[in-house]
Amino acid sequence: MTPAAAPPLAPPALTYACDVEDVPLGEGRALTLDGRRIALFRSFEGWFALDDACPHSGGPLADGIVCDHAVICPLHERRFALATGDALTSDDEAATAHEVEVRAGRVFVAVAAERSAAAAA
Ligand code: FES
Repeated sequence: MTPAAAPPLAPPALTYACDVEDVPLGEGRALTLDGRRIALFRSFEGWFALDDACPHSGGPLADGIVCDHAVICPLHERRFALATGDALTSDDEAATAHEVEVRAGRVFVAVAAERSAAAAA
C-alpha cells in the first residue's frame, strides 16, 4: 500500500492590518501580525508586505525608502523587490513576501510561512 499524498497546503488566512489612510502613499509601516513583524508598504504600484527584518542584517525595512517597485534598507542600502522580496543589489537571501488585499478601505495581509520553513516543507 502506498502512502497517501499530503494534501496541498491551505493558503494563509487574511489578517486585518490597518485602514488605507493609516499608511501615506510612498511609505511603509511596521506591524505585528500573527506574531510576525511585517513591513507594509503603500507604493505608487500598490500595496505590498515583506518581513520587516532585512535578510542582510535585520534592518527595519518598513523604515526604508520606497521607489521603483523596491524598498531600500535604511542600514546598508540594499534593495529588495516589493512584490517578491528578491534581493536586487546583492546575493542576499530574499525577504519573505506576503500577499496584501484591500477591501472597502481596509488592508489585509496573508502572512506567509517563513522562507526557511517553506523550503524545508
Ligand atoms: S541590514 Fe539591510 S542592508 Fe544591511
